[in-house]
Amino acid sequence: MKAIITAGGHGTRLRPITHTQNKHLIPIANKFMLDYAIEYVRDSGISDIGIIINANDESIKNEFKDGSSRGVNIAYIPQEAPLGLAHVIKISEKFINDEPFIFYLGDNILVGGVAKFIKEFKRENSNCHLALSKVPDPNRFGVAEVANNKIISIEEKPKNPKSDLAVTGIYLYDPAIFEAVNNIKPSARGELEISDAHQYLLDHGLDISYSVITGWWKDTGKPSDLLSANQLVLDNIENDIKGEIVNTTINGKAVISENVRVSNSKIDGPVIINEDTIIENAHVTPHTAIGKRCKVTNSTVGYSIIMSDSVVRDVSDKVTNSLLGIDVEIIGNHKDQSAHRFILGDQSRVEVD
Ligand code: TTP
Repeated sequence: MKAIITAGGHGTRLRPITHTQNKHLIPIANKFMLDYAIEYVRDSGISDIGIIINANDESIKNEFKDGSSRGVNIAYIPQEAPLGLAHVIKISEKFINDEPFIFYLGDNILVGGVAKFIKEFKRENSNCHLALSKVPDPNRFGVAEVANNKIISIEEKPKNPKSDLAVTGIYLYDPAIFEAVNNIKPSARGELEISDAHQYLLDHGLDISYSVITGWWKDTGKPSDLLSANQLVLDNIENDIKGEIVNTTINGKAVISENVRVSNSKIDGPVIINEDTIIENAHVTPHTAIGKRCKVTNSTVGYSIIMSDSVVRDVSDKVTNSLLGIDVEIIGNHKDQSAHRFILGDQSRVEVD
């Protein structure tokens, strides 16, 4: 069995971060989002992975290369434009070569990996197997109607959902899906929609079975989703302190890498701090991930992802619920406490309380 993992798309909801960075390279607990997908697939026993990338984007290739550093074989499948998830499958036909396969959306994070879905798919011997998740707001998702252990309809973002079972980003197919993606037409927004491909299967009498995800699952499309994925991963870290800790209290779990210096500070875990970072006179509160070569001084940061080479200095109010890109600076202005000064790129977001 092979796997297809997506790492293309528009990433509109994560602008401005995605103006300069592929969203699948955003770190969650200091590990690339895409690494989670690759690990789930690898740990289920699959070693041949096709990764979909935007045709003009070299960043994923530069990082993951042939996959050997992750113990897998990676082939890259360029997509000329994000023309839809069914289009992704269409351009993967040659790579898959008439086998069953798993299709995994690279921005989905879940607990427990994908092996159990593969097992269920094989047991059901169906043409397609979807991982569903019970959600409180099904009208934001593709929603499955089920009967007798099979999916009988899927509606995209329905006003009156027939169930609370959302279609997630984990799909298993046999080669029948290629007939579907080669016969459907683009939707009103010009994309080949995966739900139309599923409907094609149902209309042609093919079987769609399903599993319900019992643990945590998240489609990390928005900043708040990234922060909750970061929280989830940090809740499961083990203590590992390699850096230099001076006159500092650490409560809870912390991963502090080599060449980090933490002084005159308080760390309330779970917290992860990457190499060559300096934390001084600071308070780091739970669910914070700080990347390489950062400086946090005379400030409090919490529940945030701070990417590499960033600085938070002399900020009197707590910095929280924040997603800071690479080489970002937040500097306190002590001269005039009632003023803020900003230099922000296109589509930046600032919330000041
Ligand atoms: P989405 O989250 O639906 O879209 P997006 O990533 O473009 O983000 P936004 O909605 O904020 O603009 O995509 C799900 C996954 O599929 C994600 O990993 C990106 C990927 N994708 C492709 O690789 N090619 C495509 O044509 C599309 C639509 C998505």
